[in-house]
This record gives sequence, structure tokens and C-alpha cells, in this order.
Amino acid sequence: MPADLPMLDGRALPALGFGLYKVPAEQTAEVVAAGLDAGYRLVDGAEFYGNERELGEALRRAEQQGVARDALTVTSKFWGESSQEPAAVREAFAQSERALGTPIDVYMIHWPRPARDSYVDVWRTLVELRDEGRVRTIGVSNFTHEHLRRLIEETGVTPAINQVESHPWLPQHELRAFHRHHGIVTQAWSPLGRSRVLHDPTIQRIAAAHGVSPAQAIIRWHLQLGGALIPKSTHPHRLRENLDVDRFRLGDDDMAAIAALETGERTGTHPDDRN
Ligand code: A2P
Repeated sequence: MPADLPMLDGRALPALGFGLYKVPAEQTAEVVAAGLDAGYRLVDGAEFYGNERELGEALRRAEQQGVARDALTVTSKFWGESSQEPAAVREAFAQSERALGTPIDVYMIHWPRPARDSYVDVWRTLVELRDEGRVRTIGVSNFTHEHLRRLIEETGVTPAINQVESHPWLPQHELRAFHRHHGIVTQAWSPLGRSRVLHDPTIQRIAAAHGVSPAQAIIRWHLQLGGALIPKSTHPHRLRENLDVDRFRLGDDDMAAIAALETGERTGTHPDDRN
């Protein structure tokens, strides 16, 4: 199990979690049970994923089977497509809390939606929710360094986490450096490039040299960059495989070879492209 990452709010974040994006609601309870059984302690959910009720049921079932809830980190995110008003943020938060039936540990702004120019105000509401004790840690997702700079300058409160697309084709080195400077944890979504990067010949060569799978090699790369990540799988054996990354380390030559794979290619949406 990789070590937790310290956050600027004094809490610790499990470096490796598993994500529920695109996990069908009817499969969610099964996937969550498999993930917790494999030993994950962070589950990345969101209102937009449409499976929070099922995630909550799985968490309750796990608790009955002896998994301590306070050992787990559960994430949710504000989607905000219909409204970005403070009341809408509060209602979305309460709705996710009701669906989960358990407190939210980490709440994030899912997208900056820069064309609406309201993410600073949305952030102020997240800060209030945290100050009211309703959520432990607040963060953002899909923010560029410009969006982050505005949040920090205009509110004085730095997000603990920025969850962004990152994988060997999109390593986000500059954004990671900005995060490091401000104490923000980089948490990668699509850390395997939606599985496409697994087929990269350099990744395959490095994985074979270490006697591990391409997914394990990429996960190790993320961890050695000092970041957190949430690889998604609906298969229990892959969930286990993705957590089994402590028995090898990539050398400087491996890290350099992976750094050379950067193309900037995204497998998901650009932060500015969702209004
Ligand atoms: P599946 O859910 O069928 O297991 P990302 O997290 O980058 O978005 O990648 C998720 C994709 O990678 C999913 O299609 C998932 O497929 C696949 N995947 C996850 N872990 C592994 C693994 N260890 N080996 C192969 N494919 C994997």
C-alpha cells in the first residue's frame, strides 16, 4: 500500500484510490465491495457519475462487515450544470450527502466552467461548508493554474487537491510544479489514459523489464512523481493488480523514458471546453 500524501489542511490522502466514473449504477456496489476488499481506502465518486446511492449502500454493507468508515476517504463533486448559485451548491452537496447516507470526506468543484465565471463564488461556498464542519477537505477538479491562481488570490484559500487528467502522454509537469509550490495534491484521473497508454511500446518494455503489468508501471510512475491517482476498473483482479505496486521502483532511466512520451494528447475533455 503506497504511503498517504500530506495535504495542506493537515489531513492525509491515500495516494491510490479507485474511481467510479462510468461504472454503471447496477455494478457499483459490486465494484466498491471488490475495491474495499482489495484494500483501497479512497473511493472517488461524484454527483455526475450517477451512482452515489449505490456507493452509499456498498459503504454501509462494508461497515457492517467490519470496514471502519473513518478509515475511508469518500469523495464527491459539485457538477453545477444547471446553476452555480450558492444555494444550488448547498443543495447539490446536501443531495450527495443524502444519496451517500454518510458524510462526504472530500468535496470538489467538478469543473471550473470558466465561461460562466462563477467558480470563485462556488469555491467560497465550499469554504463555508468546510468551516461549518460539514466536510473535511475541499478541492477542485480540472482547474488550470490560472483558475487556481484566481481562487487563491481572491479568496485566500488554497484547494487541498486538484484532480486533473494525467497520464504519460499528459504528464502535466508545469501544473504539478505549480501545485507543489502551493502545497496542492495532484490527483490524476484517467491515470492509465483510459487504458490506451497501456499499449504504448515504451510502457510495455519498462513493465516487462520489471516483471509487472503496464498498468502497474504507469501507477508507479504517478506515485514516484509524488501524485495521487484514481485508476478505474470494474474487474476485481485488476483492482487488486493496480494496488500491488510496492514491490518495485522505476529507475531514473525509466522515469526519463516515460517523460519522453509526452504528446499532450487528452483522452478526456479540456478544462475550458465544458460550460
Ligand atoms: P476495466 O474497467 O474493464 O477493467 P483510466 O483509469 O485511465 O480511465 O483507465 C480505465 C480503463 O483501464 C478501463 O477501461 C479499465 O478497464 C482499464 N484498466 C484498469 N486497470 C487495468 C489493468 N490493470 N489492466 C488493464 N486494463 C485496466
